[in-house]
Amino acid sequence: MLALSIETSCDDTAVAIVELDKKTQSIRVVANMLSSQTALHAAWGGVVPMLAAREHSRNIQPLLTAVFAEATLTPGDIDLVAVTAGPGLIPALVIGVQTAKTLAYRWHKPLLGIHHIEGHIYANFIGENTTQPDTFPLLALVVSGGHTQLIVMRDHFNYEILGETQDDAVGEAFDKVAKMLGLAYPGGPAVALRASKFQASNSNFQKSNSQSDLTLPPRQNDSVGLVSSTDGRGSITLPRPMINSGDYNFSFSGIKTAVLYALQKQTAETLADENFINAVCGEFQNAVVEVLVSKTKQAIEEYTPKTVVIAGGVSANVHLREQLAQMISHRFPDTTFLTPEFKYSLDNAAMIGSAALLRWQQLSDSDKEQAFTTWQTLEPNANLKLQIL
Ligand code: KG4
Ligand code: ZN
Repeated sequence: MLALSIETSCDDTAVAIVELDKKTQSIRVVANMLSSQTALHAAWGGVVPMLAAREHSRNIQPLLTAVFAEATLTPGDIDLVAVTAGPGLIPALVIGVQTAKTLAYRWHKPLLGIHHIEGHIYANFIGENTTQPDTFPLLALVVSGGHTQLIVMRDHFNYEILGETQDDAVGEAFDKVAKMLGLAYPGGPAVALRASKFQASNSNFQKSNSQSDLTLPPRQNDSVGLVSSTDGRGSITLPRPMINSGDYNFSFSGIKTAVLYALQKQTAETLADENFINAVCGEFQNAVVEVLVSKTKQAIEEYTPKTVVIAGGVSANVHLREQLAQMISHRFPDTTFLTPEFKYSLDNAAMIGSAALLRWQQLSDSDKEQAFTTWQTLEPNANLKLQIL
């Protein structure tokens, strides 16, 4: 079964053709294309919704032509049209949704509107990691530019949000810290690169980091929002907000503000020092990852999932992947830890196709019938909630 999928929720125009093997339940990407607008928005320091919409409308037709050419398929081969219906920027979403509605109408195909985060979660099931009955319960750590959540799934498309950020999303915090440090846009990869340089150049840091054990007593400033201190050698110590809050909520704006305060205390010479910038990035990434790993550990203890996945753009962060893998293999050796392939960590259309094809499998005959008229009713929704089947 083949799906044509479209994703335009933010600043990437993405189109894919994805195939479900009904026997093995495996998802194969036949063609996956993306037109990035990063360079355009970099000049503005963030995504400008109307510019994103203009670029989506310019790029979507050529991308559609290109994926069919790459896949050597024609519209007649497609069984299902899928599109991100939200959450996201409305002017951007509208272009993808309207295009998908037009294609579904024109081709007489069923249409499914997919939640962006659902797509990120189902990116984990592209390729070899096929879903099995014993995949569930599943715990998803969602870390993107707009979301930070821990979600339990007791079955396919069954979501219980255990907790979420009370302010900034983790990707947003990466981006804002990068901006304060004058690093390239988008900030996440730039901060991660600097952090890895710091870790590579600082063996003492590495040593203490690898020894850090989540059972150690909490740092004094663990639950404090706005603490930062310098150790006199140009490096800074940041808080781990809400790490001991006992719930599954997060807060990242305090770490970001702590970075700001720490920077304000530095001399111009220190601020121009590459090693200092690397050290700030290293400590920031450490602080964020410690909180994410600690909360994930707590959720695994309580919900004993068979599978843990990470979803969203920050899942491309190698340090986060390594720390989660280490914690899970040490503490929960019977739990399977999945990560999306790097190319499906960031926004893409293949993940929307993956979610749509697996969702289609779960629909009743009447719901499948109804999907042929979705083109009449589907509207983009900036605040779309996860839809439980
Ligand atoms: O999922 P995504 O592509 O878009 C949203 O749905 O928001 O996530 C984008 C976010 C951005 O904040 C970006 O800075 C962050 O993911 N990101 C990273 C890394 N790569 C992307 N954050 C930390 N480390 C990375 N390697
Ligand atoms: Zn995303």
